[in-house]
Amino acid sequence: MYRIITPIRTLIVIGVCLTALGFQATAVANGHESGAGATADYVPTVLITGSNRGIGLEVARDYAERGWNVIATARRPEATGELKAIREKHPGLVIEQLDVTDNERIDELAEIYRGKPIDILINNAAISGGHENARFGAFNHDVYRQVHTVNVLGPTKMAEAFLDSVSISQQKKIVNITSGQGSIAGTWGCCYIYRSSKAALNMVMRNISLELKKKGITVALISPGFVKTGFTPGLDLPMMITPEESAAYVLAVIDNYDLEDTGTFISHKGEVIPW
Ligand SMILES: NC(=O)c1ccc[n+]([C@@H]2O[C@H](COP(=O)([O-])OP(=O)(O)OC[C@H]3O[C@@H](n4cnc5c(N)ncnc54)[C@H](OP(=O)(O)O)[C@@H]3O)[C@@H](O)[C@H]2O)c1
Repeated sequence: MYRIITPIRTLIVIGVCLTALGFQATAVANGHESGAGATADYVPTVLITGSNRGIGLEVARDYAERGWNVIATARRPEATGELKAIREKHPGLVIEQLDVTDNERIDELAEIYRGKPIDILINNAAISGGHENARFGAFNHDVYRQVHTVNVLGPTKMAEAFLDSVSISQQKKIVNITSGQGSIAGTWGCCYIYRSSKAALNMVMRNISLELKKKGITVALISPGFVKTGFTPGLDLPMMITPEESAAYVLAVIDNYDLEDTGTFISHKGEVIPW
């Protein structure tokens, strides 16, 4: 069970966020033991969207190194050199083509894996839309639609399509990589397109979590920290972490995130973020 950020911590979070151009600040991790791993009898499976670079790539690497079956999905499998290198060492990793805006392909992939357990579905793929497209008075509506299609409709469709495979697994988790920028409580007037997409993702997954709790399925909302990736081009601020560090935090949070926590919005260091 995760702790709630106190008002003082919230102020600290907001302060750091201001410095960090709006990205999620850190907090103190809780100290639960990791309970997730392969056993002699059962090898868990994780499916990750957008796993060819950034945080998704490192999450795929970490699960492969744990000995899990990893379904690493990417829009362009032909351009996944780093994933292929991981697969060389860890044959339990398979690469599947998937654009999360392509509902037909999502259904096709879900059909391929029907009857096979997927312990953790990680909705990681997302786009920011760029700051210049997200200024009030000059919104780029095509970009707005595209960001919400990728960041909200994509994860929702994935959860629907892969529900059966998650249901028959041991861990039964649908994990959404969200952002502290999706916090309405912590916003201050910037980045409307991306922020509204993550707030919408939080709302839809919170709702789904209430529905799926009775089936024993956990729906997680995890902010991965302020990470040096394609989302933060050229930024190198002291509070930023590497994708490798972010992935380690994210896996630790996933390990500790259980049905009791379902539908809560958690930082990479394991504390509840105000909606
Ligand atoms: N970096 C941060 O500071 C930060 C902070 C808070 C939250 N996050 C969240 O962390 C997650 C991962 O982001 P990142 O920082 O690792 O960014 P990234 O390096 O830009 O990676 C984004 C990934 O999403 C994929 N993607 C984009 N559109 C897609 C689509 N339509 N279908 C399938 N895949 C698609 C990209 O694939 P292509 O290579 O094909 O484009 C790429 O693999 C996102 O949900 C992001 O919102 C990041």
